[in-house]
Amino acid sequence: MVVVITGASAGIGRALALELSARGAKLALAARRADRLEALNAELGGSHLCITTDVARREDCERLIARSVEHFGRIDTLVCNAGYGFLRPVAESSPEMVQEIFQTNVFGTLDCIRAAVPLMSRQSPAGGWRGQVMLVSSAVARRAIPYFGIYSATKAAQLSMAEAMRVELAPQQIAVTSVHPIGTETEFGTTSASRSGGKRPRRISGEVSQSAETVARKMVRAIEHPRPEVWPAAASRWALGFATLAPRLADRILSKRRGQIGGE
Ligand SMILES: NC(=O)c1ccc[n+]([C@@H]2O[C@H](COP(=O)([O-])OP(=O)(O)OC[C@H]3O[C@@H](n4cnc5c(N)ncnc54)[C@H](OP(=O)(O)O)[C@@H]3O)[C@@H](O)[C@H]2O)c1
Repeated sequence: MVVVITGASAGIGRALALELSARGAKLALAARRADRLEALNAELGGSHLCITTDVARREDCERLIARSVEHFGRIDTLVCNAGYGFLRPVAESSPEMVQEIFQTNVFGTLDCIRAAVPLMSRQSPAGGWRGQVMLVSSAVARRAIPYFGIYSATKAAQLSMAEAMRVELAPQQIAVTSVHPIGTETEFGTTSASRSGGKRPRRISGEVSQSAETVARKMVRAIEHPRPEVWPAAASRWALGFATLAPRLADRILSKRRGQIGGE
């Protein structure tokens, strides 16, 4: 199995690479920090392909897909995982900040998909699928949280694209899976803080978090047996589904915790 992972230099992407490599998958590891990718590849025995990629640049996304196919002959799963967040009220988010985050989280995802789908649709099927596109969205795709509104919007955009593509690409035997983690212990908080003028997302009291390994293991299962959505913390799926049915109640709950979410 050949898997391309964007954002493989840290967090969920790195944990996924470790899990998949242990199962014998061939990997194309992509991110901007080439030294991190090379160190990870060395740790995994050196047989994978490292491709320095900034998903905010369309030409990098196209090169990532082209080089992966050139090297491995096919792509079974493309994991669009690269992304980041920032903490800022929606109305105070500058056009530049908004443009930049959409460029990475949404347009970067789409540029990789646009390059990979025509190639996948020409591949011979394996296990009933010619290929799979996996988008690492978030639990906040279903219900935005205050101060992470712009980030939530990028994650909702990924979910919408996944829902539409799942039906559009079914005749081509291309599976589409969206992944919806809750708070996960990665470098996400540090990156968010550096992009939010030092403001660090605070843990909401009672909030549970999960490890990147837990998320990665659930993703591996959905790579081995494609499914529409992965919710690594199952309870969040039902809680957020309910929140979409009762927006006023969800607003009230989030209003009480607004101060906590606002960061420190
Ligand atoms: N952690 C959470 O609580 C959480 C919850 C729900 C969803 N998610 C989602 O999970 C995904 C992975 O995040 P994480 O938690 O693992 O965070 P992380 O530890 O900060 O890792 C983010 C990864 O994305 C890469 N990346 C960021 N911008 C990039 C760009 N322009 N081009 C290429 N790679 C880029 C980073 O690599 P380089 O810096 O080396 O480029 C890094 O490998 C994100 O899409 C995030 O939205 C995270």
